Amino acid sequence: MAQSACKYNHIFSFSKGLFHVLRKDITLKIDVYAIYLGSEWKKAYDLYHGSKKNNVIMDNQNFGMPRIGEPAPEFTANTTRGKINFPADYAGKWIILFSHPADFTPVCTSEFMTFGSMQAGFEKLNCQLVGLSIDGLASHIAWLREIRNIAWKEFKNIDVEFPLIEDISMNVARKYGMLQPGESETKAVRAVFFIDPAGVVRAMIYYPLSLGRNFDELRRVLIALQTTDNFRVSMPADWRPGDPVIVPAPSTMDALKKRDAGEEGDIACHAWWFCTRKLPKEEVESKLGKQ
Ligand code: BEZ
Repeated sequence: MAQSACKYNHIFSFSKGLFHVLRKDITLKIDVYAIYLGSEWKKAYDLYHGSKKNNVIMDNQNFGMPRIGEPAPEFTANTTRGKINFPADYAGKWIILFSHPADFTPVCTSEFMTFGSMQAGFEKLNCQLVGLSIDGLASHIAWLREIRNIAWKEFKNIDVEFPLIEDISMNVARKYGMLQPGESETKAVRAVFFIDPAGVVRAMIYYPLSLGRNFDELRRVLIALQTTDNFRVSMPADWRPGDPVIVPAPSTMDALKKRDAGEEGDIACHAWWFCTRKLPKEEVESKLGKQ
């Protein structure tokens, strides 16, 4: 088989009348080369894309993504608080599982100081925080000890009490789609999973390596999810406890008639399918963390 490498960093070869192109990120230039270099270029192109498709299938196995409404993928792992069986150990609680790229890095440290300062509030919401990075336990422990001695903004003496998973094997990161090779092949992105007391994934948020999360937003999402369950309502954009909530749209002509006749009580309609009702803050708060 004749084979050579060219300056565009791909290898092309000719064997048994077939032109082969080996390159990770195929570009039009390769097709043009192929047209020039052999009448069998189309076969080579198809071969390449076939193998690329196979790679994608492999990638999906290695980099799976949980989906909203499905059971949270199970795993066992070592953490800074001992071994955990996830999510079974936290059945009956809400869980926020979140990943960070690496220990001893500034953005992650600012995040842990912020989340660490909010632990008691999340406990009141019946929510277990669980962190993860592709680092070992010794590194986690040393980093958390150092965090106690760092002062940043209003935070100091922060004791991170929630478990931090060691995931050197990347077993969990892969299961949860935390490894996104376009961003990094060895560091988890900043992923956040909200898992309900029945172990079902209810929301996910992903941030890149360079951007620290808004932890107030994470708290808002948790409160909104619990309020949805408690009152069977939806929340409009930027909803916060005390703001009006959205009531379901009529699903029959009779229900629509009732809405048009104003028989549904105290609701405000912006369209027949977009109506809100008051839900006082105290009522929302009286049910938080009660699941
Ligand atoms: C950080 O936490 O500072 C960080 C970690 C990985 C990549 C970029 C920033």
